[in-house]
Amino acid sequence: MNIDFSNIQTASAIPGAAAMIETFRAIGYSLETAVADIIDNSISAGARNIYIDRIWKGGESMIIIKDDGHGMSDEEIIQAMRPGAQNPLEERSLTDLGRFGLGLKTASFSQCRNLTVISKRKGENVSFWTWNLDYVALTNRWNLIRWLPDGYENLLDDIESGTAVIWSNLDRVVSPLTKKDDENAKRKFSEAFDRVKRHLAMTYHRFLEDKSFKLYWCGHEIKPWNPFCLNEKKLQIMPTDYIGNDIAIKGYILPHKNNFSSESAYKNAEGIYGFSAHQGFYVYRGNRLLLAGDWLGLMRKEESYKLVRIQVDLQNTVDSAWQIDIKKSKAYPPMGCRLQLESYAKKACALGMEVYKHRGRILKRRAGTDFQSLWSEKKKDDKWYFVVNREHSMIKNLKLMAREDPDGAIEMLLKFIEESIPTKTIYVKEAQDESAQKQPYSDIDISIIKSMMEQIYHNQISEGLSSEQARLSLKYMEPFNEYEDLIDELV
Ligand SMILES: Nc1ncnc2c1ncn2[C@@H]1O[C@H](COP(=O)(O)OP(=O)(O)OP(=O)(O)O)[C@@H](O)[C@H]1O
Ligand SMILES: [Mg+2]
Repeated sequence: MNIDFSNIQTASAIPGAAAMIETFRAIGYSLETAVADIIDNSISAGARNIYIDRIWKGGESMIIIKDDGHGMSDEEIIQAMRPGAQNPLEERSLTDLGRFGLGLKTASFSQCRNLTVISKRKGENVSFWTWNLDYVALTNRWNLIRWLPDGYENLLDDIESGTAVIWSNLDRVVSPLTKKDDENAKRKFSEAFDRVKRHLAMTYHRFLEDKSFKLYWCGHEIKPWNPFCLNEKKLQIMPTDYIGNDIAIKGYILPHKNNFSSESAYKNAEGIYGFSAHQGFYVYRGNRLLLAGDWLGLMRKEESYKLVRIQVDLQNTVDSAWQIDIKKSKAYPPMGCRLQLESYAKKACALGMEVYKHRGRILKRRAGTDFQSLWSEKKKDDKWYFVVNREHSMIKNLKLMAREDPDGAIEMLLKFIEESIPTKTIYVKEAQDESAQKQPYSDIDISIIKSMMEQIYHNQISEGLSSEQARLSLKYMEPFNEYEDLIDELV
């Protein structure tokens, strides 16, 4: 539909400031996601050190997030404070964690009624501006005020350039009438803030693993929490898969509890919400974790998948296709990716379940019962391979049965083999060490092949094929196709 805008009547419908800014409060941030949105800005501004502090003063408590990024001039602060200063459709640099031109405001207003930004560029003067929701309500205008909480004039003196975001009147975190000596409220405030700390250790673990980047928590360095337990020896790593050029997927199956290097390592791997909740995809956008364990609507969380964690790496170029939200806490894979993600997830979950099955076998062995596996793993010259366990009672039984009913016995044997090929274990071994699998037929006695080949050849000739035709049919038959020279020698 094309509308001709050149000659059309219009009416102004500017949003009411007081109502609109209150609506910004309802986007649904938690304290964790709100603080992370502020830290995203600091990272985008090139900060290497970010200081997060809470100041307990009862109803007048504050949260301060300060960085040593490039900072902003007076004009730039005003621009940063403007809701929707930047169009979400604009292309952004790959290291920019922003998208909507809203996060600073929406994240802050979700927690407080007073947002102050104080900033300075290198070699320039410090400047500051504040959004005060009470003032906006009073005036119904989109006006900032030149105001700074008492005692914070020198907040940036110790850095060359940088920015501090100050949240005061934290009505969503502490009720405004709370007294400073209310120990119960103080404890709750501390606990809420501790959850934020763990959330940041997880969300920014890739940045924190780089020693030149630091997040300080009330003066203490936050240590990274890596969901994939990369130092665990029994960790299973799946091969990386790619969707187009933009998206990489890599699965990790954590070891069973008893196979973790220590009790504390297992406890640590559990994460904030426990193993069950932390299963699923870990979606990263520009190295920042967006989702920490979510099946993206492709499957359900199950107890038996709880050791499965799959890393998905996105760049901000796919923001729109993946419907990244303002809070940077949701993502919806586009139709084109769903099938591939789902099939990868299924493979990973099958491996995840194997960990428990395998565990079951070990337990049975330990319990003293002789566990008979149909397949045994072997190793020769550093190469692994699987053989059917000839000692298995079923094989012995089939041999007896073959005396009476050879066709039936062979059919049954083939059926059991088809059903029990240890594909998952093979898949894991392949993923971990591609080179170490023995080549099929690499050390089989060649006379077995030759004798089988001759028998088939003569059978075919007696069935009426010419020797040329019989040879050709063998060349198209596994595994004889690998032995053309032997076929040509047949007489
Ligand atoms: N700590 C900071 N240092 C330097 N500039 C900042 C800082 N915080 C915000 N800004 C500037 O303010 C702008 C607006 O920030 P805001 O978080 O509102 O939106 P965004 O980061 O562009 O996008 P999104 O809504 O996705 O977060 C940023 O694009 C950046 O230019
Ligand atoms: Mg932002």
